[in-house]
Amino acid sequence: MNIKELIRRALEAQKMAYVPYSRFRVGAALLTEDNHIYSGCNIEIASYSPTICAERTAIFKAVSEGHRKIKAIAIVGDSNFTFPCGVCRQVIREFGKDANIIIANSLDDYKVFTLDEILPYSFGPEDLNKNKE
Ligand code: THU
Repeated sequence: MNIKELIRRALEAQKMAYVPYSRFRVGAALLTEDNHIYSGCNIEIASYSPTICAERTAIFKAVSEGHRKIKAIAIVGDSNFTFPCGVCRQVIREFGKDANIIIANSLDDYKVFTLDEILPYSFGPEDLNKNKE
């Protein structure tokens, strides 16, 4: 996996952020199981709640094109190491339970986490079919 290429694509996507309300720019880029890269930015809406994070933009682009398995996702934001919000962690859980989460400040300054580290004891698709006995 080329971590720097994913970060580069996330930085590119960050430039497209539509953030007139928060002015907080986020970009994300993910690698699918079959090595496609999808990227996305955050998009804010005047009535606020329809706002979508960069991570979900990228993931929904991938899934809507038939790519349901994420191997890695890189995230860049305007803060020092921007971590995915809780909702995005749950969406990553759906399509990338074993994904590497790359939290980057720049091409050379990044940290890699597993999803399990940032979303421990998670609930996922398999749990819907798990009975107590
Ligand atoms: N945001 C993301 O796009 N991803 C994150 O991981 C954190 C938050 C966006 C949502 C909103 O547009 C702005 O950042 C401020 O919360």
